[in-house]
Amino acid sequence: MKILVATEKPFAAAAVNGICEIATAAGHELALLEKYTEKSQLLEAVADADALIVRSDKVTAEVIAAAPKLKIVVRAGAGYDNLDLAACTQRGIVAMNTPGQNSNAVAELAIAMMIFMSRNRFTPGTGCEIQGKTLGIQAYGNVGRLVAAKAMALGMKVMAFDPFVPAEKMQEEGVTPAQSLEQMYESCDFISLHIPATPQTVGSIGYDLVSRMPKGGCLVNTARKEVINEPELAKVLEERQDLKYVTDVAAATQAELDEKFGKRVFATPKKMGAETAEANVNAGLAAARQIVAYFADGCTRFQLNK
Ligand code: 3PG
Repeated sequence: MKILVATEKPFAAAAVNGICEIATAAGHELALLEKYTEKSQLLEAVADADALIVRSDKVTAEVIAAAPKLKIVVRAGAGYDNLDLAACTQRGIVAMNTPGQNSNAVAELAIAMMIFMSRNRFTPGTGCEIQGKTLGIQAYGNVGRLVAAKAMALGMKVMAFDPFVPAEKMQEEGVTPAQSLEQMYESCDFISLHIPATPQTVGSIGYDLVSRMPKGGCLVNTARKEVINEPELAKVLEERQDLKYVTDVAAATQAELDEKFGKRVFATPKKMGAETAEANVNAGLAAARQIVAYFADGCTRFQLNK
């Protein structure tokens, strides 16, 4: 079978080598399309692919239609808002992600962003410490749990809100379950977002929640830019000169936010949460193994469109 790795933002070389070894050892052929700049390049490359590994690359109905032999697509990473699951299902294509494989990298970035903003983005002036401050984790999944553990190790108090995780599990891990999202925003100096981008969450973080944050509050977004209601965020940043926003990756209206709010906002130019060699290797190799297992014995663990 031909496995295509199509990554606009390429994996580290060690990950590509590892994927290649796994694929060839199982008798498959590996093709690479890295750093592509045009959709047409992807459409052309998928024409003879039996399997596809992507990162945040958009696998749309158009891409699926251009890939008549495609049987499986694996998003090497957690968030799968870039996959058109309905189009996959319609064609009988198995879609998977690799949950947890790049979580530590994202969690480390969230902690780094909190410190960066607390220290005036490493520019002169008096900052503040994160020790003793309260952090609210919105969604206590793979990344949220790691952020919580690291924050507690740094002396922060941690709350979490997640309707899908039992309060006892949070308590066992030293985390205070929030009674509601509103209560968490009211109680926390930092809020770290770890929700996926879904029809329910897109645009859901706006004025009502952010304006509840205490003086000096900082919103940290290593999830998806789409979960923010940007006009409402701008409104609250305008009204509350004490609040800060840091995001991986830039908001659609980032230039306006930067101009209006200066050092109180910061955005990475390209999504970098999972940009570590370790995360690339973990997620890339997991994707390759999942494809090999699917072709070998039909294993559909981590299938998203069951
Ligand atoms: C994820 O959902 O796994 C992360 O956002 C990483 O995305 P990336 O592969 O585009 O860096």
